[in-house]
Amino acid sequence: MTAPSGVSAGPVSCRLAGDAAELAAHHRIRFEVFVREQAIFDESDVDAQDARPDVLHVLGLHNGVPAGAVRLYPLDASTGTWQGDRLAVLPGYRTSGLGAPLVAFAVETAGRRGGGRMLAHVQLANERFFERLGWARRGDVEEYVGRPHVLMEIGLTG
Ligand SMILES: CC(C)(COP(=O)(O)OP(=O)(O)OC[C@H]1O[C@@H](n2cnc3c(N)ncnc32)[C@H](O)[C@@H]1OP(=O)(O)O)[C@@H](O)C(=O)NCCC(=O)NCCS
Repeated sequence: MTAPSGVSAGPVSCRLAGDAAELAAHHRIRFEVFVREQAIFDESDVDAQDARPDVLHVLGLHNGVPAGAVRLYPLDASTGTWQGDRLAVLPGYRTSGLGAPLVAFAVETAGRRGGGRMLAHVQLANERFFERLGWARRGDVEEYVGRPHVLMEIGLTG
């Protein structure tokens, strides 16, 4: 079974980027957050994972305005392990209830596509945010793209 292409609740909706314009909006949000705001990447946060045939780019909208993004892809088909990353909500839309649904949508999508667990390298400052969504820490704090991160995991269900 495949995931529904989108979910919506109140002013918030999440869906797979369905065309070139939505994919561009997804990338613009990542650029605003990871290049401009956090300066984790110099010029672009796009990497080889974005070119994978099985990568899924998700767009989050608030009252119809593109304001959030997340990316997911299978890491290891033999173990059903998926990776989620590039979770970003534009600064002006934070704590409006978009980040949590984006994570939930990524988790649900990977589960419906047969995944058994999802991993994420989470910025330490966001550990509590993920814990509240049911994720658990795996291992110690590590430096990743110049910031302290923790590996976190959640079990997936179909
Ligand atoms: C982390 C991020 C995606 C959260 O998005 P958001 O839209 O603000 O999240 P939500 O509004 O859905 O928050 C859900 C709840 O978690 C809380 N929360 C948000 N960020 C949190 C954090 N870093 N730590 C603890 N709680 C947090 C919210 O206050 C809210 O609480 P409530 O349910 O009691 O109201 C957003 O802050 C962001 O884009 N940050 C910059 C990029 C980044 O750090 N990406 C993640 C890399 S791991």
